[in-house]
Amino acid sequence: MLADQSDTSDACTSSWDFAGSPTQYSTHGIHTYLAAMIPWVAKRAITTAKPRKLLDPFCGGGAVLVESLLAGIACVGLDINPLAVLISKVKTKCISSRRLMHELGLIVEKACLYDGPVAKFTAKQGIDYWYKDYMLGPLTALRHAVMELGENQVKDFFRCILSATARDVSLTHRNEIRLRRLESPYLESFNPDVIDVFRKNAVEAAERVAALPKLDVAVHQGSVLGMPFADDEFSTIVCSPPYGDERNGVPYTQFAKNMLFWLGYSWDDIIDQKRKTLGWINGREDFPQPDSQTLRKSVHLIRDHLKSVKEVNAFYHDYDNALTEMARVTDDKIVIVIGQRVMQNTVFDNARITIELMASKGIRLGAQYRRHLPTKRLPRMREYGAAIDHEDILFFDVRGKNM
Ligand SMILES: C[S@@+](CC[C@H](N)C(=O)[O-])C[C@H]1O[C@@H](n2cnc3c(N)ncnc32)[C@H](O)[C@@H]1O
Repeated sequence: MLADQSDTSDACTSSWDFAGSPTQYSTHGIHTYLAAMIPWVAKRAITTAKPRKLLDPFCGGGAVLVESLLAGIACVGLDINPLAVLISKVKTKCISSRRLMHELGLIVEKACLYDGPVAKFTAKQGIDYWYKDYMLGPLTALRHAVMELGENQVKDFFRCILSATARDVSLTHRNEIRLRRLESPYLESFNPDVIDVFRKNAVEAAERVAALPKLDVAVHQGSVLGMPFADDEFSTIVCSPPYGDERNGVPYTQFAKNMLFWLGYSWDDIIDQKRKTLGWINGREDFPQPDSQTLRKSVHLIRDHLKSVKEVNAFYHDYDNALTEMARVTDDKIVIVIGQRVMQNTVFDNARITIELMASKGIRLGAQYRRHLPTKRLPRMREYGAAIDHEDILFFDVRGKNM
């Protein structure tokens, strides 16, 4: 059932495609994130659902939180990935640009005078592979200057800028889901001035955060499986959950790891959070399959691939528990933006699976919209020989929940 797409209140188009609409306004562009929701989808989901208090339990790069803030709606974010939490905090915190510019001057001055040792990383961390030797000195110097700031929002702002800079100067292809090192001839000609990139990122982001509304947005690091919130604490959830586990789907931890190393996280910290991502098997063996006929049919089609069956079952087991937990903390609407995934050349229709899992909890689908995607964005599709060409926006009515 696809609903009538007649809502034109918040964009120049009545469809949910938003092809060609600008996506970098306000703080949206200050730090890249994988599989980020486009701001217009978040904005329209919020306008349509009319939240009193909103939660995004997979807040990622914070698109939903920024739109909620711009709409003046109280909101809270949560994500398992500490980089997501940092970005989301910074993108929703208004700080005076004069204060940030003053600190920027001091940081750059300190970094230019730094003559301490260059940061050391283990071979396992593999940092050297992603940076040229000349970049390590300035990145270390900036890190040193930023880490000396007192613990507060200004420090978080510059940690986020350090992270954006570490990403911008890294020897990775842009706009790709998995990390892949640049090759010749681009590799030889890519020689950014690290301090300059940091300065430019900071100046641009400072203007943007200074223009934010002043409203407190709390962002927690933690798992959706056991959220620190009371029953019915929120009216509304708007989110895009992962489409699969990190091994077979979008590798958020891999994307974040170099930046987290520069921010001082250890390998153990990173593995620890990866183990809590949805579907991470982590020594577990038993994954009762949740109640979805569509899921059962797809699993049947891949039944000869025992490892994939186990990975799929682990993911949907966690996903079903996540939906239960989301319904527990919400008393009005849950909006889920989700696309299909492919395992062993078999499509898993995440929208249908989500609808069936919600129905098993007594939660009714109120409306379903479809957004056509401009590019092939998810991995494993080429091997399937098809593109993920759409995602669905599902509006659930939680008022009848029966759990
Ligand atoms: C599709 S992304 C969200 C993107 C986000 N809407 C944005 O605009 O950037 C899914 C997010 O789920 C997070 N995630 C995975 N497992 C999680 C868990 N158990 N609890 C909370 N977040 C989790 C990932 O770290 C990732 O940031």
